[in-house]
Amino acid sequence: MTQDQPAPAPSQAPARPDWWRDAVIYQVYPRSFADADGDGMGDLEGIRRRLPHLRDLGVDAVWLSPFYASPQADAGYDVTDYRAVDPMFGTLDDADAVLRDAHTLGLRVIVDLVPNHCSDRHAWFRQAVEEGPTSPLRHRFHFRDGRGADGELPPNDWESVFGGPAWTRLPDGQWYLHLFAPEQPDFNWEHTVVRDEFRAVLRFWLDRGVDGFRIDVAHGLIKAAGLPDIGRGSQATLIGNQELPFFDQDGVHEIYRDWRALLDEYDGERIAVAEAWAPSPARTARYVRPDELHQAFNFHYLGTAWDAPALRGTIDASLDAMRPVGAPATWVLSNHDVVRHATRLGGTAARARAATLLMLALPGSAYLYQGEELGLPEVTDLPDEARQDPAFARRTGTSGQDGLRDGCRVPIPWTEDGRSHGFGPGSSWLPMPPGWGALSVAAQTGDPDSTLELYRAALALRRTHPGLGAGTDVTWLDAPDGILTFRRPGGLVCTVNTTDTAVRLPTPGKPLLSSGQLPTADGEFILPPDTTVWWDA
Ligand code: BGC
Repeated sequence: MTQDQPAPAPSQAPARPDWWRDAVIYQVYPRSFADADGDGMGDLEGIRRRLPHLRDLGVDAVWLSPFYASPQADAGYDVTDYRAVDPMFGTLDDADAVLRDAHTLGLRVIVDLVPNHCSDRHAWFRQAVEEGPTSPLRHRFHFRDGRGADGELPPNDWESVFGGPAWTRLPDGQWYLHLFAPEQPDFNWEHTVVRDEFRAVLRFWLDRGVDGFRIDVAHGLIKAAGLPDIGRGSQATLIGNQELPFFDQDGVHEIYRDWRALLDEYDGERIAVAEAWAPSPARTARYVRPDELHQAFNFHYLGTAWDAPALRGTIDASLDAMRPVGAPATWVLSNHDVVRHATRLGGTAARARAATLLMLALPGSAYLYQGEELGLPEVTDLPDEARQDPAFARRTGTSGQDGLRDGCRVPIPWTEDGRSHGFGPGSSWLPMPPGWGALSVAAQTGDPDSTLELYRAALALRRTHPGLGAGTDVTWLDAPDGILTFRRPGGLVCTVNTTDTAVRLPTPGKPLLSSGQLPTADGEFILPPDTTVWWDA
């Protein structure tokens, strides 16, 4: 089959009403998951071959970060053709094969949609640049004349998330807006052609059988009218919560109402999840009102320290914000933009395991990032020349991104041996650190004390225990300082020790799963530091 012919409709994953309300969704970062063709870069065929790992892990769905045609100025978040697969990842046939095999294994597939900006090599942008300042195509983006006597100053004081001004000047004198890298010009979402184009892109992938979309920078599409100055440092941080005239503007919601109606035309509950960095859980909830998107990432949770009152506060605030809109809360600890939680939370591997069991006990849906099921730490000592995060080259040392996102993007190890530990036949685009083989899927499989087997056991319990998965409430039980204990309807109690000392507590029921050793005796148990326990109670 050629790239232009529509593929036969791939089979659907088995129908389950409200599947997304408690889904565990696993993020695959295609560059770093599995490399079938041996070029050192992961690809779709590599993903397809490794799908059984995800079935065995027990997740419900896979989210694929971008695999579209792209010059890779921002690892694929700079798209030249939203309907094409980049040759480095394979072909449309390969994408169809991933969908088909995932569905056969009972896994749903969500793809990334990048609507805030495209690549500076996208045909629209290139043509707009070629045609010059009077081209009507420039209205599809944010082109402006500059300030100053000769227009030599940017049109406003906005700064790019990746550092430096959010504007770049062309040789013809005009400036264009890019909230991220200069290679990522922002679309003008006030233009109907932009809206029509993305409706068509949604349909293109829905018709191929995808189960939903992760909406990149969902809070950025609409900018405040007149693009007003901020008048102070305007540097936005990645996954930040600042109030800015280019983020979380009320006008974005009209777009998501439109998309929800479109998604609802399709069978099987196709969903969309917003990557929306909003200032508060209440603002985040606006993206998931009943006629808007289905889910929004809970970055407030991701940003919460390993501290009992702080965690309890964020959990309550998240559930309180979602209840009135009827959307599931979501929980996330790691992704391709942040330091892996095994490192970020500041403790040992035990703390990361405890954090995971806490997250998976909370009501709603959870997102996992590839490799966290292996307990992978952040790789902090990559050589500068290996780094590809565009913010690394733009870092100023004073503000903005540190550009160190490659540290969580190192390919994952599948086997103990091999040049790239089973990632592929050759080397990997980012070097793997020493010791990676001992963390591989092969090394951990069958070891009851391994992090991989902990994830498998937890996800298996989520499928069977009535106190896990969907829900809207937790009831907090009395606990000593630094200990969190909550009960969920359905008979689950979760107890977490966030401190660095063991505590003796009365046993609340039958232990189901523990992230660490659990000595019990005479109606009491000893909860070690950085440990979470699930109880049937
Ligand atoms: C993605 C990043 C990307 C940025 C620009 C984000 O939110 O997750 O990886 O650099 O959007 O597209």
